[in-house]
Amino acid sequence: MNGRVVRDPDLRVRPDVDRIACDGAPLRPAAKEVWMLHKPVGYVTTRADELGRATVYALLPDAAPWLAPVGRLDRDTSGMLLFTNDSELANAITDPATKLPKTYVARCAGVLTDAALRLLAGGVELADGPTRPAKVTVLERSAADTTITVVLTEGRNRQVRRMLEAVGSAVLTLHRPRIGPLALGSLPVGTARRLADHEVAALRAAFTPVPGRGRPRPPRRAA
Ligand code: URA
Repeated sequence: MNGRVVRDPDLRVRPDVDRIACDGAPLRPAAKEVWMLHKPVGYVTTRADELGRATVYALLPDAAPWLAPVGRLDRDTSGMLLFTNDSELANAITDPATKLPKTYVARCAGVLTDAALRLLAGGVELADGPTRPAKVTVLERSAADTTITVVLTEGRNRQVRRMLEAVGSAVLTLHRPRIGPLALGSLPVGTARRLADHEVAALRAAFTPVPGRGRPRPPRRAA
């Protein structure tokens, strides 16, 4: 780096300032990209599955750079899954402190009473603590099932399924059509597209500012 050999694997660099080369060949930072996948049911959100099940990576085009999923969707959940190589942005999307709304449509078993709906909206007690207040809207009711929209500003493991269990129901199908200002729109199931710059800007603009944060950790300089 900057003409010196560096052996510290934890060294932080400033990609826009420091000159970095490997075996004499200059390395350039990859452009930051964000991709949106319309995940079908049946794919696991992992790079490699020890049970050999299909993973979401099978659905990303070869042209995509190295990308990591932003949070996860259960195998049985469909909908919007974001991927990026920008770890600072990924952290902000998943950090409950930025309160980015994630919208789910859940078809739930049986009739959800008004009391159950109030509980879901006000916060239910889960094994890992109470949930934050959520926006809950009924889309359809029948004797067999109730379809609701749930907007969460946190993203715990299997949160929607566990919330429904806590009020005595069960999720039959779960879909995430939106994250913040981004909607799946007409993106076909099983396909992915790169977000335009204005979409990434809209995503960033939707974060609730966190006092004392907002800038990535400064790089540690080489001694
Ligand atoms: N909540 C769930 O229960 N599952 C998901 O995949 C996402 C949110």
